[in-house]
Amino acid sequence: MSSSVKDMGITANSVREKKGGVPIVCLTAYTTPMAEIADEYCDLLLVGDSVGMVLHGLPSTLGVSLEIMIMHAKAVRRGTKRALLVVDMPFGTYEASPQQAFTNASRVMSETGCDAVKIEGGRRMADTISFLVERGIPVMAHIGLTPQSVNTLGGYGVQGRGEQQETVIEDAQAVATAGAFCIVIEKVPQTLATRITELVDVPTIGIGASSACDGQILVIDDMLGMFSSFKPKFVKQYASLAATSRAAIENYAEEVRNRSFPGAIHVFGDLA
Ligand code: KIV
Repeated sequence: MSSSVKDMGITANSVREKKGGVPIVCLTAYTTPMAEIADEYCDLLLVGDSVGMVLHGLPSTLGVSLEIMIMHAKAVRRGTKRALLVVDMPFGTYEASPQQAFTNASRVMSETGCDAVKIEGGRRMADTISFLVERGIPVMAHIGLTPQSVNTLGGYGVQGRGEQQETVIEDAQAVATAGAFCIVIEKVPQTLATRITELVDVPTIGIGASSACDGQILVIDDMLGMFSSFKPKFVKQYASLAATSRAAIENYAEEVRNRSFPGAIHVFGDLA
């Protein structure tokens, strides 16, 4: 296929080649308008299963279905021209076997037009990662705090402290050897993120894992300040959209009630 038929933009391979270079900029995205804005500035957009908590009000990511992921991934695809588009495989759609993972990941790839999938888990997912990669599906791995395992981890706490450190390092090495093109490392101490980033030859993408990583990712609604009561230590709020939205809606409600909206400039006359 000639390059004029399909401009490849940023590929999984080009993300892998950014190891050790200028930090890789990643954000989650769930809708077309936000994808259009983020696409201009990001190397990678992730349709995270965090969509369940962020947009659907679910208590965890466990209730997110393949259909929800596909619907949001199609919307994000429409707004994404240059960034690499990665879609999270939701809980229960890939863990049973490499074959189950391939059946569902290939459906996600073909129905949404995304460029890669993300799966949670370290050593236990290594065989699945190589199975997918050998069959043409680029995989972003996710280790450290893996929110789909909240019930076995016992919460959303920091991972990899003390003796646990070696386990997370083994996870990182296993998914890198299996062929993941990059690794999300969530909520681990800076010293551990530094060691992993030095040890593996693919980029590490940190969330709560310090600037030692080869790139960073945040949940877009968190960094835009859409939640006034959810402020984890690792999130920097670059805007206060919750406060701005509240003020705008309060203003609108008042103007509707006192009939100052709609004003003269918002109404239609009899003549064209
Ligand atoms: O679901 C998600 O948004 C994620 C990122 C936080 C890495 O997995």
